[in-house]
Amino acid sequence: MKQLTALFLLCFFTITGKSQRAANRPDSAYLFAYSPERGNARTGLAFAWSNDGISWNAIGPEHYFVYSDYGTWGAQKKMLKPFLFAGDDGTWHLVWSLNANENVLAHAASPDLVYWGRQSYPQTSMGSNVADPVISSSSIGKYVVSWRSNANNANQAFSLATDFKTFASPQKINAGEYINKRVEAMVSGHKQTGTVHKVAFNRVEGLLNAQKNAQYQSTLLAESAATDHQRFAGLKPVDITLTPIRAKSKKISDLLVGAFFEDINYAADGGLYAELVQNRDFEYHPADKKYRDKNWNHQTAWRPGLGTLAIDSVSPVHPNNPHYAVLSYDLGKPVLVNEGFGGIAVKAGEKYDCSAFVRIPSAKAGQLTWRLSDKNGNILGTASMKIPAGTNWKKLSAVITANATVADASLELIFEQQGSIHLDMVSLFPQKTFKNRKNGLRADLAQALADMKPKFLRFPGGCVAHGDGIANIYRWKTTIGPLEARKPMRNMWNYHQTTGLGYYEYFQFCEDMGAEPLPVLAAGVPCQNSSDGGAGQQCGIPMADMDEYVQDILDLIEWANGDAKTTHWGRLRAASGHPKSFNLKYIGIGNEDLITDIFEERFTMIFNAIKKKYPEIKVVGTSGPFYEGTDYVEGWGIARKLGVDMIDEHYYVPPGWFIHNQDYYDKYDRNGSKVYLGEYASHLPGRPNNLETALSEALHLNNLERNGDVVAMSSYAPLFAKEGFTQWNPDLIYFTNTEVKLTPGYYVQHLYGNTPGDEYIPADLQYSGNDAGVIKRISTSIVKNTKTNELIIRAVNLLPVTTHIRLNLDDFSGNSKVQKTILTGNPADRKAKPLTSEIQLQANTPEILPPYSLTVWRIRL
Ligand code: AHR
Repeated sequence: MKQLTALFLLCFFTITGKSQRAANRPDSAYLFAYSPERGNARTGLAFAWSNDGISWNAIGPEHYFVYSDYGTWGAQKKMLKPFLFAGDDGTWHLVWSLNANENVLAHAASPDLVYWGRQSYPQTSMGSNVADPVISSSSIGKYVVSWRSNANNANQAFSLATDFKTFASPQKINAGEYINKRVEAMVSGHKQTGTVHKVAFNRVEGLLNAQKNAQYQSTLLAESAATDHQRFAGLKPVDITLTPIRAKSKKISDLLVGAFFEDINYAADGGLYAELVQNRDFEYHPADKKYRDKNWNHQTAWRPGLGTLAIDSVSPVHPNNPHYAVLSYDLGKPVLVNEGFGGIAVKAGEKYDCSAFVRIPSAKAGQLTWRLSDKNGNILGTASMKIPAGTNWKKLSAVITANATVADASLELIFEQQGSIHLDMVSLFPQKTFKNRKNGLRADLAQALADMKPKFLRFPGGCVAHGDGIANIYRWKTTIGPLEARKPMRNMWNYHQTTGLGYYEYFQFCEDMGAEPLPVLAAGVPCQNSSDGGAGQQCGIPMADMDEYVQDILDLIEWANGDAKTTHWGRLRAASGHPKSFNLKYIGIGNEDLITDIFEERFTMIFNAIKKKYPEIKVVGTSGPFYEGTDYVEGWGIARKLGVDMIDEHYYVPPGWFIHNQDYYDKYDRNGSKVYLGEYASHLPGRPNNLETALSEALHLNNLERNGDVVAMSSYAPLFAKEGFTQWNPDLIYFTNTEVKLTPGYYVQHLYGNTPGDEYIPADLQYSGNDAGVIKRISTSIVKNTKTNELIIRAVNLLPVTTHIRLNLDDFSGNSKVQKTILTGNPADRKAKPLTSEIQLQANTPEILPPYSLTVWRIRL
């Protein structure tokens, strides 16, 4: 009876509560749409609502429902003076100004004001700017956008007709015809300018709920080990029992853990690419650093020791390398010095190949001495080259053997007579490279990567692949062949790439590591954050040039796989020294692009062309830089529409995201496109790579294994970072000229890469308690490697207390010898390293998972 009364009261209060709320709930309300202007801070579309249109309640207090995606980070990406308009079909249209000088309009549409679709940035080709655009409707589905412009310093007005898919040419209108329908409202004590709309109240509720949900998500994401002492105060050690369910095992990808390489943080020149001379081709250019560094030019890293150094381009070695050095001294022997990338590291007894293109303008024969010396002037090795008479460029080479180990030597080139000498492609290259390849890779760095046993290598990026503006798109054809004929270019991370590490070297490296090559090429559009190219930066390669671009991509496949005798590009590959096919199976098209109509048009063209000519090649598409949002939804939409083989997802998120999104891939369609998680990393404030970030990545890898039937590949990003030359943290491998510094994150990738499975075995897990926050921080995964006949069990303990795990392995026999590896320590530890031992698993004794740890048992069956 008591129970019945309680139930009755509960129902009564719920119903009366509901009806009271319903009574207070208005049917409609006013909505104010605006974007606050805050100097350089990035703001977006915000809302406030009101019952009377006078006093406004901010949603958020200032939650942005959509941001402008036009232009460069920081300086641009502004939503100025947004104008919201309700179309006749219920679609909300938003137009806004981007800045004070470009003749570009911005548009996005939404069905519900919460989810916003693709943005478009039509060029109006009239007037010098688009100020205060407004929308009016002329008939169903047809709109007119009008705006003010101060073209030629005169107040003018323009308008164009559009259905927001196509945009008619703008027409000049009388200034009086332009009506700025914006109003002012006080929101949270600040005067804002925007538009007012009468809406059904559920529209307001939708916005309030979306904001509340976003706020709730951000509290989950903010959970980190730093506050675990409060979250888990008094928590006792946890006991769990793990029982594999063999009957439910499934096949998973055998390419799950690979590597991502991008020339960021001096990962290539000055890093993995073993060249020791900086700016060997004299092609550094102030534009590499957007003219912001007065010391960055054709002479960077060089200085005349004696005489003068000038740069000329009258008759270069190759048109792709237009600049060369002119070293002159009328009073004696001129000397040119290179300081390398923060010094040149040499090792006693090791041999270094020296080479240069040389020419003496007087056409007389001469001699060039190469000398390595330390800071105190001690000579570490020399070599000499005879320069024959004549005015043509000659490529000369010699070998220096270093007599001491020095971290910061410099290289001197001494012209042994007075007068002038021309020099280009001045190179000092260790003979000891990874697998002793000529023009190869720094052995210690390449080895660190190879030790991870990546199943594939993605290259050349990241953003480097799609470039800073159309002109900066990475074009593979200009990175192969003789070094002097390759095209050096600006690196979009604000330095220079020689392309000495080019497509041939990437493919060779993959082969040397036993990794599948995964080249990623631009989808005909540059990076959405491009700073170069003006109003066209969000556009793509002009359609008139797209056939040629598509052909370039088809040619890459022929270059990688084509017959060495019967195909043009196969012959070129063979001529470079690799007659055998590189056996390319995967190709990435696009890198976390802004998914616009311009993107889709070009991506579709490339995808169809590849599938037509090479149906066996698996194409990897892209879904933007986040795990949700417009690009994610639209990118996946294209994947479904075209049947793209795989989609490249990117997300850099805090540990809390990994903890609270463990079922992220459980919900994916098992029959749709596969996932390549191409860039991910755990980011904490300060961006360390520490034990906490590493363990959250391990936890995610367990979830990827469980979803290894959908997730085919994954790669942490970025990979390398040179200390003192770093643009992005955290990274997996830090290095100096002489050291390789591995991180906890590296050890996680290494552990998973070295213990891959191809079968996933689900498990039954019994916990001693039922606190969801605790349970979420213990993650396990069991995989079987059917080739090596090993069972691999992994357990992550992200709790501040020990967990005892009982491994119920009755089903598996012969498990006496077990290799056990533990990575543990303080969550903030950046130097944690794993320890491996051989153990005997005891039938009734639980294994111990220390607080904040990853344990991997490798069981030979
Ligand atoms: O990994 C660093 C950068 O992050 C990549 O270049 C880009 O794709 C992403 O935004």
